[in-house]
Amino acid sequence: MKNISIIGCGAIGSELAHYIDTEMCDSVKIISIFDLKLHQIENLKATLNNNNPEVFTNFSLLVSSDSFKKVELVIESASQSAVKEYLRSILSKQKDVLIMSVGSFADSNFFSEVIHFINDHSNNIYIPSGAIAGIDAIKSVKKFITSVTLTTTKNPKSLRGAPFFEKSNVDLDSLYKKTIIFEGSAKEAVEQFPANVNVAALLALVGLGMEKTKVMIIADPSILINKHEIKVTGKFGEFIFKVKNIPSSKNPKTSYLAILSAIECIRSIVTTGIKYGT
Ligand SMILES: NC(=O)c1ccc[n+]([C@@H]2O[C@H](COP(=O)([O-])OP(=O)(O)OC[C@H]3O[C@@H](n4cnc5c(N)ncnc54)[C@H](O)[C@@H]3O)[C@@H](O)[C@H]2O)c1
Repeated sequence: MKNISIIGCGAIGSELAHYIDTEMCDSVKIISIFDLKLHQIENLKATLNNNNPEVFTNFSLLVSSDSFKKVELVIESASQSAVKEYLRSILSKQKDVLIMSVGSFADSNFFSEVIHFINDHSNNIYIPSGAIAGIDAIKSVKKFITSVTLTTTKNPKSLRGAPFFEKSNVDLDSLYKKTIIFEGSAKEAVEQFPANVNVAALLALVGLGMEKTKVMIIADPSILINKHEIKVTGKFGEFIFKVKNIPSSKNPKTSYLAILSAIECIRSIVTTGIKYGT
């Protein structure tokens, strides 16, 4: 039995908890749930039948609780700022962590600090493939990659609010056809489109890094799904992965695949036996 704690009870956290409660209650126990918003925790707790987690709206109380001593794996499904604020403390308590807000690792100083810490201790950090496919293959050919390009196509509404538009002439509301909005490095994409950063950041971490990973963002008013096309070239040949993601019913910014990918990651952590894929 793996004892877990969930940080962030929104679209991902609540669907994960619900899945664990109904499908994995023999192998995973939800010890505690934490969110800054009490109603999110209450809504989630009300849906659980087989688990009765302790609830927290304060991080210090969570990590100092007796129940947290029993936790082996912390699932972060909150925000990039939550990762930056809480991760050091969780790792220092010898917990393993599954991170959904991988965009937080686009900050190279923070990422280096985390890598140093886990190299000196024996923690594991798990980062699911999230909203994209092909991470297994990219990991395998890492040494032979010469270029990685991510083309993300979204409805203009999904891009609204990005810092990029503060200095750009593009008016998302008047777009009537597919339009290239941004071309640059993953590092620039992270700065200009933080809400799209998870996919770009994960690709950069696994492949060529933040500077050399190229990102194109396209707004298409005719689509409601999130599309990602990843092209990787090198001495091994070439990969092209295309993903057309249905958004989560609870949060249109989050692809349903990201939730399913986290479920599969947890399953691989808690099960023994044959492991498929890289
Ligand atoms: N890796 C991927 O492919 C991928 C895909 C989709 C979303 N994400 C990321 O996963 C995270 C969760 O996504 P979601 O769709 O569930 O979001 P959501 O907005 O539905 O839920 C997030 C929840 O976390 C809580 N929260 C935010 N900051 C917090 C903090 N500092 N402390 C405690 N609680 C906090 C919020 O109150 C909210 O209830 C986001 O950072 C999102 O960008 C990653």
